[in-house]
Amino acid sequence: MSTDDLVVREMQVAAEAAMKNAYCRYSKFRVGAAVLSDDGQIFAGCNVENASYGLTMCAERNAIFQAVAQGVRKVKAVVIVTPTEKVTPPCGGCRQVINEFGPGAEIFVFGSGKAARQFKLSDLLPDAFGPENLG
Ligand code: THU
Repeated sequence: MSTDDLVVREMQVAAEAAMKNAYCRYSKFRVGAAVLSDDGQIFAGCNVENASYGLTMCAERNAIFQAVAQGVRKVKAVVIVTPTEKVTPPCGGCRQVINEFGPGAEIFVFGSGKAARQFKLSDLLPDAFGPENLG
């Protein structure tokens, strides 16, 4: 692991708490996420679905937007939790949003039981389009 195992564990606890509040009445797929800011703060979020399905917001983006609303501009790590045997890597849209604030972020994904994986955002989204491309 790393990013300090204890911090990742703290993020997992925060993500699991948020996951309990997931509003997922259509998919029944609960997701919780937590992000770590460069100054060591943890922000959590869950997925929030909508009767107009396309307006659904993922847990990762909700966690990042919470952080941004509190003034954070740099994300060092992201934790994603689901109550499933298979772990859930971030969707394509969330990869792009993570890239905006954490191109070097470490991504930790946990499922139920011992299932866990770790990625670098730059491996999940190589040659990303980002702010620097706008000149
Ligand atoms: N979901 C997330 O919250 N994060 C992801 O990275 C993948 C998908 C949510 C969106 C929707 O509420 C449910 O999972 C099923 O797609």
